[in-house]
Amino acid sequence: MAPRIPNIPSTVDLTGQSVLVTGSNTGIGFENARQFLELKASPVYLGVRNLEKGDEAMTALRNDPKIKKVNPNAVIKLYQVDMASFDSVAAFAKKFSEVEKLNIAVLNAGVSFFKYIPTGDGYETVLQVNYVSNALLATHLLPLLKAGAVASGKPSHLAFVSSNMQHLTSFKKNSIKPDENIIDWFNNKANFGMDRYNVSKLLLTSFTNELASKVDPNQVIVNSMCPGLVATNFDTNSPFILKYFMKGVRSLMARTPYEGARALTLAATTGPEGNGKYYSDGKETPPAAFLATDEGKQFQKKLWNQTLERLQQLDPTSPSI
Ligand SMILES: NC(=O)c1ccc[n+]([C@@H]2O[C@H](COP(=O)([O-])OP(=O)(O)OC[C@H]3O[C@@H](n4cnc5c(N)ncnc54)[C@H](OP(=O)(O)O)[C@@H]3O)[C@@H](O)[C@H]2O)c1
Repeated sequence: MAPRIPNIPSTVDLTGQSVLVTGSNTGIGFENARQFLELKASPVYLGVRNLEKGDEAMTALRNDPKIKKVNPNAVIKLYQVDMASFDSVAAFAKKFSEVEKLNIAVLNAGVSFFKYIPTGDGYETVLQVNYVSNALLATHLLPLLKAGAVASGKPSHLAFVSSNMQHLTSFKKNSIKPDENIIDWFNNKANFGMDRYNVSKLLLTSFTNELASKVDPNQVIVNSMCPGLVATNFDTNSPFILKYFMKGVRSLMARTPYEGARALTLAATTGPEGNGKYYSDGKETPPAAFLATDEGKQFQKKLWNQTLERLQQLDPTSPSI
């Protein structure tokens, strides 16, 4: 069995801090939003794809007896964002800028498909939702997080929900030529593999590492984490057999969403030492070994440059970093 994720230190008090959690209508993101409210954060913004589902989640949080007791004046607000649409991310960013400042952002929304499904933007869905849109969203949130740091006098947090599955990719066997664009390479249907989810999380952690090295941790602490195996509906889009196999595995071995969410809360409340770190089971852990190799370091820089360039093309309103 996986070790228990440590409790949130009793010293963590988020009074006066504003928080955004994406994919917070259900699963780990919902419990993460609940934990932030229990820690007295307000306002807590729920970034959701479906407003109806988001509304149910918001009502459940508002009616939660513990939240009512410890955070009676908590403000909870819904924002719609579909990470499978760059226009939706840009529209979300425009609307969300009304908050003017933000202390914590947890980019949790994620998806897994074992077949190549193009989005309306012509990108493979897992690549777009888990990687490119998260990078785009991060560029839009950074100015708000920096403003949050100035207003509160302490660093803000930007935490990406990644996965230990990043350790299991066929990366080294991939033959991305030096002049090839990494995003385009992965977007090419011919290069789609069963490890696509794992790859998307590796790209995400690679981007996180590079971003953390560019942003002053006195302003924004940037990191990523894995919540471990958690009993959610994450396998919804998996092939029938895998879905039912994973249902059994999760019922036997997985953490509850509330425990899994602690991994997110811990990463999003570290001190400056948490900048650029990857956490698993609530503890600092090395990310995919590939990223520490010379080849991996070059890959990380190239991915970073190509991603920023692509974001500008996809959304010219994306702030530069
Ligand atoms: N469960 C695990 O064992 C596990 C392990 C490691 C990492 N993770 C990561 O944890 C995160 C949360 O997963 P979960 O287990 O809580 O799964 P989940 O219950 O399926 O929740 C996923 C969340 O992401 C949202 N989402 C999916 N596609 C979206 C899109 N196009 N736009 C906006 N939101 C979208 C979902 O919204 P809808 O409800 O509208 O679909 C839902 O809110 C994911 O990033 C996942 O990769 C999970």
